[in-house]
Amino acid sequence: MKISASFLTIDNIENVNKLVNCDIDYLHLDIMDGVFVNNKNEVLSVNNKKPLDIHLMVNDVYGYIDKYKSLNPLFITFHYEAVTDVIEVINYIRKFNIKVGLSIKPSTKVEEIIPYLPYLDLVLVMSVEPGQGGQPFIMDTVDKIKKLKELKGNYLIEVDGGINDNTIKLVNDADIVVVGSYITSGDYEERIRNLKEKIYG
Ligand code: DX5
Ligand code: ZN
Repeated sequence: MKISASFLTIDNIENVNKLVNCDIDYLHLDIMDGVFVNNKNEVLSVNNKKPLDIHLMVNDVYGYIDKYKSLNPLFITFHYEAVTDVIEVINYIRKFNIKVGLSIKPSTKVEEIIPYLPYLDLVLVMSVEPGQGGQPFIMDTVDKIKKLKELKGNYLIEVDGGINDNTIKLVNDADIVVVGSYITSGDYEERIRNLKEKIYG
């Protein structure tokens, strides 16, 4: 299982650089438009020492893809709930040689996105309401991850929200965990070690 670190709750560049130099696999960028979710957050430049995993919580998906493709991300993930033509957005992201993720909010069922699974590199299951860090993990997520695993598609399963050294045990079937406040509210290296101990034994 890989760790994608979210720096949503970090407010200075030194600490973002400190995080990027830790033993993480990806850097998770939470982009919010103040419309799809209440909060607003943009990241116009970032240390890209680690592959970038961009999570768009926005309605104007095309506008934000155009803006963020220049950061050379590995993944761009958009929300199923924000678009009308999912396949068209998938094809648009692919044109730029960027891997494609589709995210579902806690209230959206896995069954709704089954038609799109063959075309995705990643499915991001939200385990909190999108919009802010530091919220508690929603238990229904565990079943959703199980379902996505049983469907045995060619996509990675990523889970985002409320992951700490306890809840990480519940999402063992996921390929990538996004972790924000658990890491950033303590000693980054030590917190990441704690998570890895729970992953590997
Ligand atoms: C929530 C964001 C998450 C969030 C995770 O809308 O998508 O990436 O920052 O933060 P924690 O780990 O604090 O729940
Ligand atoms: Zn996120």
